Amino acid sequence: MQHLLSWQDWTQTQWHKLLERACELSFKGHHWQQRAIDKSLGLVFFNPSLRTRSSMELAAAQLGAHVSLIEPGSGVWDMEWRDDVIMDGTAAEHIEEAFGVLSQYFDALGVRLFADFHHYSQNRDETIFKKILKASKVPVINLESAFYHPCQSLADAVSLRQYPPQGKKFVLSWCYHPKALPMAVANSTLLMAAREGYEVTVLRPDEFALDPEVMTSAQQLADDAGGSIHESSDRTQSLSQANVIYAKAWASKTAYSDSEKEQVIRANYQDWRITQNDMGNSDRAWFMHPLPVRRGVVVDTAVLKSDASLHLSQARNRLFAQKAILETVWGLGS
Ligand code: CP
Repeated sequence: MQHLLSWQDWTQTQWHKLLERACELSFKGHHWQQRAIDKSLGLVFFNPSLRTRSSMELAAAQLGAHVSLIEPGSGVWDMEWRDDVIMDGTAAEHIEEAFGVLSQYFDALGVRLFADFHHYSQNRDETIFKKILKASKVPVINLESAFYHPCQSLADAVSLRQYPPQGKKFVLSWCYHPKALPMAVANSTLLMAAREGYEVTVLRPDEFALDPEVMTSAQQLADDAGGSIHESSDRTQSLSQANVIYAKAWASKTAYSDSEKEQVIRANYQDWRITQNDMGNSDRAWFMHPLPVRRGVVVDTAVLKSDASLHLSQARNRLFAQKAILETVWGLGS
């Protein structure tokens, strides 16, 4: 049994096989092939979702599997994760019991559990998610945890195979956002681009550097794949050379658990928004974003409406990436 917390736990061979299968499924399009009629999938969403939830439900349905949606705190008991606490607050159920029970019903579980911004190291180490993995007796698929979003990065890799950029320069650009957002997509995007051999630049203000352990992992992947990893805070220089501009907002770890201080730092960079001017007048660069996106804040509407934007392709490929993952964890072959 293999969980999917991050692609770091899977081999390069597994990654390439899954990517090829997801590309094949995407090329075929919507395809109902009921090969999992004896399977069931529980989807546990501690946080909201549009794409992940609907594409995961559809992926399972197209394979013929039964799906149940479980939303703790909304028709389902609030859950506690800490050990050795007296549970006299709002949480009526501990995750050890909850996932011990769910993994007796379902053949796989998908879990979305964002960063809580309380303790950086706890979020970086995926402390809560790892407790869920430990309590589960069936494969658990990460549908976005504190630090990783593997389903998004597999789908994005499919889009880059389908729409090959004109060159290898991949800029992961921090963008302003009115709220502090988790680092999961940024981390997974960096690792995906490194794994795929791009010349990656993490473009961010100094206070928004990504985690050193993730940067080191990305460097190792880039070394193996023949790519490179750089960091910069020079928007003009980085964006003017990019072949892919992947925009994403994330929180500053310099004030991770102090939301007021973090907001003050972030407010200095409200002009970090991708404009038509950043994209250039040629078809030099693709624009990418995982969605949801705030128009006029993260990116100008004109960019999203232009032929240079892959955001809808990225969302479409979530379906095929997740179908390939379900086939793999259920051993269905292709
Ligand atoms: N990109 C993504 O995961 O979208 P949702 O939050 O809507 O699922």
